Amino acid sequence: YIPSPAIASDHDPSSKGFIHCLTKKSIPPWLIHKRSSSSYTPILKSSIRNPKFLNTTASTTPLCIVMAKKTSHIQAAVVCGRQHRVRVRARSGGHDYEGLSYRAEGRLERFTVVDLSGMRSVRVDAARGTAWVQSGATLGELYHAIWSSAPRLGFAAGVCPTVGVGGHFSGGGFGMLQRKYGLAVDHVVNATLVDARGDLLGRDAMGEDLFWAIRGGGGGSFGIVVSWHIKLVPVPPTVTVFDVVRTPERGAIDVLTKWQEIAPRLPDDIMVRVIAEPRRVTFEAMYLGTCDELLPLMHHRFPDLAMTRADCNEMTWIESIPYIHLGSNATVADILNRSSISRVNTKNRSDYVRHPIPKSIWKKIFAKLQQLTNFGEVQLFIDPYGAKISRIHESATPFPHREGVLYNIQYITYWNGDANGTLALKWSRDLYKFMEPYVSKNPREAYANYRDLDLGRNKVVNGISSYHHGKVWGEKYFRANFERLAKVKAMVDPDDYFRNEQSIPPLFE
Ligand code: FDA
Repeated sequence: YIPSPAIASDHDPSSKGFIHCLTKKSIPPWLIHKRSSSSYTPILKSSIRNPKFLNTTASTTPLCIVMAKKTSHIQAAVVCGRQHRVRVRARSGGHDYEGLSYRAEGRLERFTVVDLSGMRSVRVDAARGTAWVQSGATLGELYHAIWSSAPRLGFAAGVCPTVGVGGHFSGGGFGMLQRKYGLAVDHVVNATLVDARGDLLGRDAMGEDLFWAIRGGGGGSFGIVVSWHIKLVPVPPTVTVFDVVRTPERGAIDVLTKWQEIAPRLPDDIMVRVIAEPRRVTFEAMYLGTCDELLPLMHHRFPDLAMTRADCNEMTWIESIPYIHLGSNATVADILNRSSISRVNTKNRSDYVRHPIPKSIWKKIFAKLQQLTNFGEVQLFIDPYGAKISRIHESATPFPHREGVLYNIQYITYWNGDANGTLALKWSRDLYKFMEPYVSKNPREAYANYRDLDLGRNKVVNGISSYHHGKVWGEKYFRANFERLAKVKAMVDPDDYFRNEQSIPPLFE
C-alpha cells in the first residue's frame, strides 16, 4: 500500500523511519549517506559543477544520499519515499545548470538524492549496432565503450564528456553530430524506468505516451530512467575538425552574419558552430570525411570563411571528442575522467533564432559582450540546425525546436569570487532582454537541457504543481508538446510525486 504523498514539507521530523525502511529493503547502510555522516558533504559536492551551488546552506539539501548500485535500490527509495513522505531526486552526472538534481529552492522540501553514478555500465552489441547504457554513465564513458567494441560506430549526443547520460537524454541531447543524425533521443529505442509506484517498466509496460515523454520531456518528472537502449550511428574512418578564428577587427561580424544563412543549409555531413567571445569568434567545425573532400565544399559554399588546408585536422571520430572539448593535447583516455572540466560560476540561458539577425545588431551585441570584461566573462555557443535535426517532426519527441530553426544560442556568463555574481547576472539579464526582438517569439523558445529558472518556477496549489503556472516556462521548452507532457504526467504520476521547481505539472482532463 502506498499512501497518497501529501508530502509534509513544513514539518521535518526525523528521517529515521525513511532510512530504516531503506535498510529493511536491503540497501546496505554504507550506500546511505545521512546528513550526520562525514561522507555526506563530500558526496553531495562530488558532482556539483557550478561552485555557486557549493554553498549548500543557501539551498535545501537532501535528507540523505543513496548511492544506488542496483535497480532495486532505486525502487526501494521510491517506495520508502512515498511511505515516509520523502521525495526523490535522481542525479546522474550532476550537470543540471540550476542544480535541481541535488538541491531544492525556497521552502523546505523533504527529499533524498538517488545518485546513479555507480550504475554506469555500457553494453554494446556491435553486430546489431545497438547498446544498452545505464543512466549513471557519462557521455565520455558511452563514447569510449562504443569505440572499444565498434570503431566504425558512434553516437549523436553532447560535446562535453562529463555530462551524465540520465539527465542529458531526458532533455534531448545534441552535439557535433546533430546535423547528420539529430538528437540523442532520436535514437532511443527502449528504456527501463522506475515509476512513481516504484515499479520497473520497459517500453511495452510503459506504453507509448510515457515512452514518448521520457525522450526529451526533461529529467525529474516521470520517474527514474535506469537504462536506455540506443541505436548507434555509422561514423567514417576519418573526420576533419577545424577552428577558424576571426576578430571583430578582421571581419568576424561580416562572416558571422553570413554564417547564419549558410551553416543551417550546408550538407548534413558538416557542422560549423560558432563560439563568440568579446574579442574573437571561433568557427569550429566537424566534417564526416577527409580534408580533400571538405576543402572544395567550403570554398564553394562558404568562401568568406577563407578556410585553408592548414586549418584541417584529420582524425578518427573518437579522437575528435577530446580534441573538441578538452583541446589538442587531450587523449581518448581523458574522456573517461569524470571531473575533467573545471568548476566555475556560471549562469546559462538559451534562445532559438528563426530569422537571421542583421549585421547592425551583431555589432551592438559585440559591444555588449565587451562591456562584461570588467566583472566576468562570456561565451555564446551558437549551434546551427537544419539537416536531420530539423527534418524530424516537432511532435515526434517532446523536443520541439525543429523545422525553421536556424540555430540555438547558449549564453554562458562566467564570474569568479562572489557566488552571487551580482554584476555579471545583471549584465546577463540585460543581454537576454536586448535579444528579445531578434529571437523566436510566442513563445520565446529555450532548450530544456539548458535549464534556466529565470524562465519560471512551478507553483504548488493544493499539493500539486499548477499547470497554469507551469505553462509560463513549459511552453518555452516544449511549445505545443507541453500540454501532452502534462497529460502524460497526470496519467503516470497524478500525485505529483516526482516534483522539482521545473518538473512537468499534471493536467487532468
Ligand atoms: P543531473 O544529474 O544534474 O540531472 C539533470 C536533471 O535530470 C535533474 O532534474 C535530475 O533530477 C534529472 N535526472 C538525472 N538523472 C535522471 C534519470 N536517470 N532519470 C530521470 N531524471 C533524471 N547539453 C547538450 O545537449 N549538449 C552539450 O554539448 C552539453 N554540454 C554541456 C556541458 C556542460 C559542462 C554542462 C554543465 C552541461 C552541458 N549540457 C549539454 C547540458 C546537459 O545536457 C544537461 O545539464 C543535462 O541535464 C545534464 O545531465 P546530468 O545527468 O549530468 O545532470
